[in-house]
Amino acid sequence: MNIMVIGGGGREHAIIHSLKKSPKAEKIYALPGNGGIAALAECVAIGATEIEKIVDFAKNNNIDFAVVAPDDPLVLGAVDALEEIGVPCFGPRANAAIIEGSKVFSKNLMKKYNIPTAGYEVFDDSTKAIEYIEKGTFPVVIKADGLALGKGVIIAQSFDEAKDAVHSIMEDKIFGASGNNVVVEEFLTGPEVSVLCFTDGETLVPMVSSMDHKRVGDGDTGLNTGGMGTIAPNPCYTEELAKECMETIFLPTVDAMNKEGRTFKGCLYFGLMITPKGPKVIEYNCRFGDPETQVVLPLLESDLLDIMIAVSKGNLKNVPVKFSDGAAACVVVASEGYPKSYEKGFEVTEEKLPDDCFVYHAGTQMKDGKVVTSGGRVAGVCAKAETLEKALEKAYKATESFNFEKKYMRKDIGKRALDILNSK
Ligand code: AMP
Ligand code: GLY
Repeated sequence: MNIMVIGGGGREHAIIHSLKKSPKAEKIYALPGNGGIAALAECVAIGATEIEKIVDFAKNNNIDFAVVAPDDPLVLGAVDALEEIGVPCFGPRANAAIIEGSKVFSKNLMKKYNIPTAGYEVFDDSTKAIEYIEKGTFPVVIKADGLALGKGVIIAQSFDEAKDAVHSIMEDKIFGASGNNVVVEEFLTGPEVSVLCFTDGETLVPMVSSMDHKRVGDGDTGLNTGGMGTIAPNPCYTEELAKECMETIFLPTVDAMNKEGRTFKGCLYFGLMITPKGPKVIEYNCRFGDPETQVVLPLLESDLLDIMIAVSKGNLKNVPVKFSDGAAACVVVASEGYPKSYEKGFEVTEEKLPDDCFVYHAGTQMKDGKVVTSGGRVAGVCAKAETLEKALEKAYKATESFNFEKKYMRKDIGKRALDILNSK
């Protein structure tokens, strides 16, 4: 089969690595791909949101199956456009991708169908939002309605901070039209768990759970990022919790989307917080998480392409989805200064890695035959092993083999998870 994967980050590198193992995968194209993906697939210089060009490429290259990985092309309707010309896809149509594309939509969905989430109010007027916040308690959470590169959530510790957040989102429009509406949300506490699920709108199969590390600094300090590292499985996510989430969150969400006439097919990502009052949804994503995918897919033992085709055909219940019992870890190596300003264009040197270690490139590109840095998060250095402790040890060791000037990484990825495992 000729397969096309839309996207060019670490997540797409991990997806392509997994798809490559399928005997059915003959040729894989990545649009646009990156410097690491180039070793596994043919990279084509078409951006992930250039829908018309993507459709033309699929027409002209006998594409049999497409995987649309990032949020923006999904929300923009890449799957609708490709299905219209007869290319089957993994990923939701735009009318279902809205579950991530609009926080107002997802919060109202949860309220309507009694899916546990933080209490909230929606505002389209900054004065009213500020009046409401003034009467409430702190911290308070302020979210831009639309996509904002993972940065549209502000946790305000005081009224002044909250006021500034509302002004910058709704008036200065720091996230553009995404800030036309804001959600003001109750601040919840508890450990966070990411659960990615395959669903064809009828059957839902959770993947192994994972834990992200969103803050830039050790000890979960500093600015929020797209994710500085991940581990799987997440030790907070017990079997009882998994059962409860299936009953109170996952299946009700699939049903709710069907009832709204917005059947969701693809990877539905549940960002959960395990609060003292039970698990609640912090966010939905309409796609694989990044860098969660980099620790989840290496543990998948079944054929990813078979699963993805089954999801697109509505046939998931007939396909095995099995994960190994081990653990995986991913340490993101970033450009010093990320998520603020950083330099790019440094040459990347990579030595051969031991078995069960993988480097998934994110911000790299090929330039004059060399791989150079091109983004804040440069790569995710990943490893799998029988235990989390060993996976972390291997991943950190492997970071020594992947170098570029001004390399920065957190030194404590997985520490909290190990503490939880050790206290059990
Ligand atoms: P999101 O982009 O919605 O995942 O939010 C980014 C991060 O903000 C989450 O991973 C949480 O750590 C935090 N967050 C979001 N909503 C809440 C909330 N209601 N209470 C506490 N923390 C939150
Ligand atoms: N790691 C969080 C996300 O993919 O949105």
